[in-house]
Amino acid sequence: MIKQAIIPLAGLGTRLLPLTSVIPKELLPINGKPGLEYILDECIDSGITEVIFIISKKKENIKKYFYNDAFYKKMIKKKKDKRLINEYKKLLKYKKMIKFVYQNSPKGTGDALLKCHNLIKSNFFLMLLPDDLIIKKNCSKSMIGVHKKYKSSVMASMKVNKNSVNRWGIYSISKNLDQYNFSISDVVEKPTIKKAPSNNAVIGRYILPREIFKILNNQGKGKGGEIHITDAIKKMIDGGSKFVGHKFSGKYLDCGTMNGYIKSTLEISKLWKFAWLEQDMSV
Ligand code: G1P
Repeated sequence: MIKQAIIPLAGLGTRLLPLTSVIPKELLPINGKPGLEYILDECIDSGITEVIFIISKKKENIKKYFYNDAFYKKMIKKKKDKRLINEYKKLLKYKKMIKFVYQNSPKGTGDALLKCHNLIKSNFFLMLLPDDLIIKKNCSKSMIGVHKKYKSSVMASMKVNKNSVNRWGIYSISKNLDQYNFSISDVVEKPTIKKAPSNNAVIGRYILPREIFKILNNQGKGKGGEIHITDAIKKMIDGGSKFVGHKFSGKYLDCGTMNGYIKSTLEISKLWKFAWLEQDMSV
């Protein structure tokens, strides 16, 4: 059973400056709700009971956000606002399931993952990259289903423009298992257009085995001087581990760039109205 999820949150968010000069990018609102809450809700809806946040000293505001329940309690005493009470209850629910670990210098996703080594209890866990929002269908939930069916590690996949392969991890596919899933024979981090084996990209949802920590412990720096999980996964595949690529059917939104962030707000506003706006209009 997959009950634990890891969310790396120590990135500096420079692509979203000036918005991120004070506010962590994951707390920026998307249609009235911090982006990170969409990711947490995806976890909860897929049966996750513990989430490990990898933050840094520079991103303590994330911890403050989830530990601010005393403030809500005080406000609710003064003003019995139904919306505040709901937010307070939601915060308590989140707070109960979140653990914090620190990665104070950003040395890549692989290095971030290593900080969670001692906290992972079962053989497989979920990892979500918060820049990647997937709406309309819960990708993590579908991937947990795929993991159960094929008894393997699973990674989300999406076809990208051939000219943009150097922005992603890129898969080689050995065979299709069914309409939505394929066996991965190789994966390479941000290849050049010439060297890319396909245009099937890794999207930030992973079901990974605990053995990955052993590989990461001995892994050197890769592209851009960072420790990438992609390189560790490649090593595991070479060693005979089974990895399945899942072509998810939800809609992908890239919240890590300014264009993508603005588009996310527009796309999500088509799906949900502000809860508080509905309330205000009904009085
Ligand atoms: C990371 C991964 C990359 C993956 C991408 C998905 O890159 O290293 O393999 O394709 O997430 O968003 P980053 O976005 O951190 O540069």
